[in-house]
Amino acid sequence: MTEFLLNICHLDAYYGKSHILQGIDLQVRSGELVVVVGRNGMGKTTLLRSVLGLSPVQRRGEIVFNGLETVKKLTHEIASMGVGYVPQGRLLFPSLTVDEHMQFVCRNKKKESRWTPEEVYNLFPELRQRARVNGGRLSGGEQQMLAIGRALVTNPLLLMMDEPSEGLAQIVIKRVEQVCRHLVSEGMAILLVEQNLEMAQGLADRAFIFYNGRIAYEAPGDTFRREREKVGSFLGI
Ligand SMILES: Nc1ncnc2c1ncn2[C@@H]1O[C@H](COP(=O)(O)OP(=O)(O)OP(=O)(O)O)[C@@H](O)[C@H]1O
Ligand SMILES: [Mg+2]
Repeated sequence: MTEFLLNICHLDAYYGKSHILQGIDLQVRSGELVVVVGRNGMGKTTLLRSVLGLSPVQRRGEIVFNGLETVKKLTHEIASMGVGYVPQGRLLFPSLTVDEHMQFVCRNKKKESRWTPEEVYNLFPELRQRARVNGGRLSGGEQQMLAIGRALVTNPLLLMMDEPSEGLAQIVIKRVEQVCRHLVSEGMAILLVEQNLEMAQGLADRAFIFYNGRIAYEAPGDTFRREREKVGSFLGI
C-alpha cells in the first residue's frame, strides 16, 4: 500500500486527437481535501473523468488508487474500488424521485455500511422531506445535496466533486462546505474542483491550479490562502 490513496503520475488525457491533459502529477491522501481550480476549459473536468475512465476520455500514464493501477480498468470497476463522483451540473434523472436516485446506486445495503440512504437523510434532513419528489422538481440546492447523497451511498473512500457551488446561493454553498469538512473529519478523501475561489481557499489542505491542461501551481492550503495575487493571476482575477 502506498501512502497516497490516489496517485496520478505523468497523466496525459485526450479527446480523439486533442491532447488535453499534459503530464499531470497529483496525489490525494486519505482524509485530505485537495482542491483543483482553474479557468474554464483548463482540463479540470477532464481530470475527474480520467480518474474514473469515463468515455470519451482516453488516458495514458499511471493512476494508482488504493494501491491498484486503474488505467486499464473499466469505469464501474474503478467506481466499485471506492471512487465516488458528483458530476458538474449534477446530472440527475428528472423523473426519478430523490429516494429512487438513492436506491438505484446504493452499494452495500447492509445496515453497518457507513452511508445508507437513511444516513444521507440524517446529513441532509431537507432531502428526507423531499424523498418522493422528482429530481426535476428540486431546487438547485436540493439537487446538489442529492448529487452528493447519491455519491455517498456508494460508500466511497474518495469523493470527487466537480464545481458543487455552481449556481448556488451563498447560504447553500456554506452548507456544502460544512458537509465537506464533516466528511473529511471522518477520514474521507475529497478531490474538489471549484471555480469559487473563496470556497476553494476555505477548504483546501492542498491546492492545484490548472492552466491549459498542465499544473501551473501547487501549494499547501496555507500558502494557497496567503498567495492571493499569484493565485489570482492564474485565474485572471
Ligand atoms: N467531449 C469532448 N470532446 C472534445 N473536447 C472536449 C470534450 N470535453 C471537453 N473538451 C475540451 O477539453 C478541454 C478541457 O475541458 P474541461 O471540460 O476539462 O475543462 P474545465 O476546466 O472543466 O472547464 P469548465 O470550468 O468550463 O468546466 C476544453 O478545451 C474542452 O473544449
Ligand atoms: Mg468542468
